[in-house]
Amino acid sequence: HWYAVIMAGGIGTRFWPFSRQRFPKQFHDILGTGKTLIQQTVERFEQICSAENIYIVGSREHENLLYEQLPNLAPHQFILEPSRRNTAPCIAYSAFKIFQKDKKANLVVSPADHYVSNEKEFTKTIQKALKETAQKDILVTLGIQPSRPDTGYGYIQYCEEKTTLWKKILGISSPIKKVKLFAEKPPLELAIEFLRSGDFLWNSGIFIWNAQTILKEFEKHLPDIYEAFWEIKDTFFTENENKAVEKAYTQCRAISIDYGIMEKSEHVFVMPANFGWSDLGTWKSLFELSPKDEKENVIKGNVVALDTENCIIQTPDNRLVIVKGLKNFIVAEYENALMICPKDEEQSVKEFVSIAEKKG
Ligand code: GDD
Ligand code: MG
Repeated sequence: HWYAVIMAGGIGTRFWPFSRQRFPKQFHDILGTGKTLIQQTVERFEQICSAENIYIVGSREHENLLYEQLPNLAPHQFILEPSRRNTAPCIAYSAFKIFQKDKKANLVVSPADHYVSNEKEFTKTIQKALKETAQKDILVTLGIQPSRPDTGYGYIQYCEEKTTLWKKILGISSPIKKVKLFAEKPPLELAIEFLRSGDFLWNSGIFIWNAQTILKEFEKHLPDIYEAFWEIKDTFFTENENKAVEKAYTQCRAISIDYGIMEKSEHVFVMPANFGWSDLGTWKSLFELSPKDEKENVIKGNVVALDTENCIIQTPDNRLVIVKGLKNFIVAEYENALMICPKDEEQSVKEFVSIAEKKG
């Protein structure tokens, strides 16, 4: 009864100009491994559940990209959304659909764009979590040791377990910890405070729960979204599904699972995870992961870099780029757009996207 649900309908705005609405970052080989992020994600989950139990929730807009990049999955394994409503509707739709098929379905829900360095540990951790959620009404998220007060993540404060001596000796302390507080994308001052406090983890955005439990949580905390899908559940796996889903999506507001459920539920647990994780959400995160030259630059393309340090430069091979005296910058060119921006101001990338949209 183990299933993986991969959320792949985001557009990765912070990775502009590489990530575009038509061709978002999960469909790119960002790490230069020969495989795209979504292909790597699917491969990771093939180690955890059988290939036919992997579902991809993506956008109808990317239907062809999905089929092309994941030719081994059957059409019914793609759950296609008519519009983007963030992660809560995406999770509700897929949970309802899989529940319809298998009332005992136990799910791991994951983003499509993460980097994992230790795949064995990744498999082991998720298997352990799935064993925890098989019979219990709990929501488990994997928690990552934070290394900086990043405001792009969710923060989780957990309760210290009182491990009695005999539990220690028998080695039966629980792998999951009860969550005291879940704070999605806190302001910087709070993030600094959380880091100082020492009992906070980052939310990895990888969730484990059984289908029945998450549906109950939707009913309680996001009843409008629950209703929208409950009403159309009999059309799932029939020819009427597409039309019904379009109607359901017009009734759904855009909200993430983090704000909608994780911050509110009383049944949240965290399993500390340590498998070398990165969100790959921004240029800086790619810079941090990539091998550097002797001047600490990450360079891809036909680039000559003089007196240049600490930069990430990615330009097309068919264009000679010469830079001199550049420090701590991102230079990224893709298709019809070139962006040059200080690395420490990369939060502006989102603004550039709206500027680019207006310019057409
Ligand atoms: N199907 C579908 N539909 N997928 C979506 C949608 C949607 O409307 N919106 C986003 N996604 C997918 C993205 O493609 C990505 O794989 C995943 O859902 C997470 O969305 P992000 O937009 O990347 O979320 P985030 O990075 O801002 O925040 C989440 O992840 C962080 C860790 O990476 C939160 O869960 C944070 O709490 C967490 O720390
Ligand atoms: Mg993300």
